[in-house]
Amino acid sequence: MSQEPISWSHLLALASQWVERYRYRVESFPVLARVAPGWLQSQLPAAPPQHGEPPEAWFADLEQLILPAVTHWNHPGFLGYFGITGSAPGAAAELVSAALNVNGMLWKTCPALTELEQVVVSWYAQALGLPTSWFGMITDTASTSTLLALGAARERTLPGCRERGLQGGPRLRVYCSQEAHSSVDKAAMVLGIGRDNVVRLATDASFRLRVDALEEAIVEDRRRGFLPLAVVATVGTTSSTSVDPVPELADLCQAQGLWLHVDAAYAGSAAVAPEFRWALAGCERADSLVSNPHKWLLTPVDCSCLFTAHPEAFRAAYSLVPSYLTTDGGAAVDLMDYTFQLGRRFRALKLWFVFRAFGTSGLAQVIRRHVELARQFARWVEESEDFELLAPVPFSVVNFRWRHPRGGDEAARAEANRQLLQRVNAGGRVFLSHTTLAGRFALHLAVGNSETQGTHVRLAWEEVRAAAQALAVS
Ligand SMILES: Cc1ncc(COP(=O)(O)O)c(C=O)c1O
Repeated sequence: MSQEPISWSHLLALASQWVERYRYRVESFPVLARVAPGWLQSQLPAAPPQHGEPPEAWFADLEQLILPAVTHWNHPGFLGYFGITGSAPGAAAELVSAALNVNGMLWKTCPALTELEQVVVSWYAQALGLPTSWFGMITDTASTSTLLALGAARERTLPGCRERGLQGGPRLRVYCSQEAHSSVDKAAMVLGIGRDNVVRLATDASFRLRVDALEEAIVEDRRRGFLPLAVVATVGTTSSTSVDPVPELADLCQAQGLWLHVDAAYAGSAAVAPEFRWALAGCERADSLVSNPHKWLLTPVDCSCLFTAHPEAFRAAYSLVPSYLTTDGGAAVDLMDYTFQLGRRFRALKLWFVFRAFGTSGLAQVIRRHVELARQFARWVEESEDFELLAPVPFSVVNFRWRHPRGGDEAARAEANRQLLQRVNAGGRVFLSHTTLAGRFALHLAVGNSETQGTHVRLAWEEVRAAAQALAVS
């Protein structure tokens, strides 16, 4: 039983030693946790300790119980889903933020939080070549950012609906491509628009939203009495990383009076390297845009930047000030007015540390390196007779599959690739994820970790080929 007051310096020393050691041995762990569901819960006491315990005991359990149940996103062989990485500056900022423990619900509850947030989101906009006149703020995730944007669009289209609700009103419609992220559906569910009113449109052969299909859908919806609300364009779709034709979508939205929201959660950060600015062409005409530094900009989870040309629409949708939060007004921005969440973490610190540590040129180099590694992998796939690419590779994600040697239908191919993936991931040295593209099961490799080198990508390719060989003879 610990009777001593907790010593900050002792704990910080333990934590920093632990982090340091973790970093150096991260590659010794299997990337994907090998525990069965419920394992950790079965290891931990069901009730909290009645008396405090010494930190050595917690750290021992961290080693023995928590680590085996961790999937190591910071492992350089983590090549699944989307590129993600933390960094030392980002982690240090998290520590400082926890020590400060401020809540930026109002400007006056922490002027530094509000003002640093305004500065770093403006830096991020500049780094990506987006309009610096936009208002920006940080949220936890792209899902929240898209929800907030569609909520602002809803209030602008049906003023006062936040008070009345949507009962008896017109049925709103939101449009996006079949490849758009499920957060669009979830936003519609939460906002009372309804998932049935998310119209997912056909894409072209490169998985980009077809503008002609969108136009037809809007016209047809108006004819049937629906009220078109917004288009969500994606720059870097989750599966294929395709980029919707934003300039044409901006024209259409302008002509039709629809809100254009751009989901650039993953690929937006690529534009920090000027040669990837093409991906954000036309986005300066969007009404709102989200991009996540926590996906591809060395910033630890969570950090999503939401920008808008219409901050007043967000205030109209979300501002609600109970008596205890009233202020003298004045020039200060109270960020609670732009969102449904009151409390606000000091996330700006980590993005600030990241910019200070790497500079925009250092960040651009990381992006370039990741894209080059992914393209190298794609070349190996293309050169191999046993594998094929399933989508273009504009960024750092490669979708491919094994051409199952015994042929068979789509279901047999999917099953063979599923088995291949399971074998690769069971090896523990790399982790790839999967998706479906045009009805085909795809192996999905994403380079995004700052520590991932050519050797890791080469290892992934060797593991994939070895798994295919083993399955072919089994
Ligand atoms: C294009 C896109 N949008 C949104 C999301 C959701 O991101 P978040 O976890 O920040 O809500 C993802 C996650 O993969 C994504 O790829």
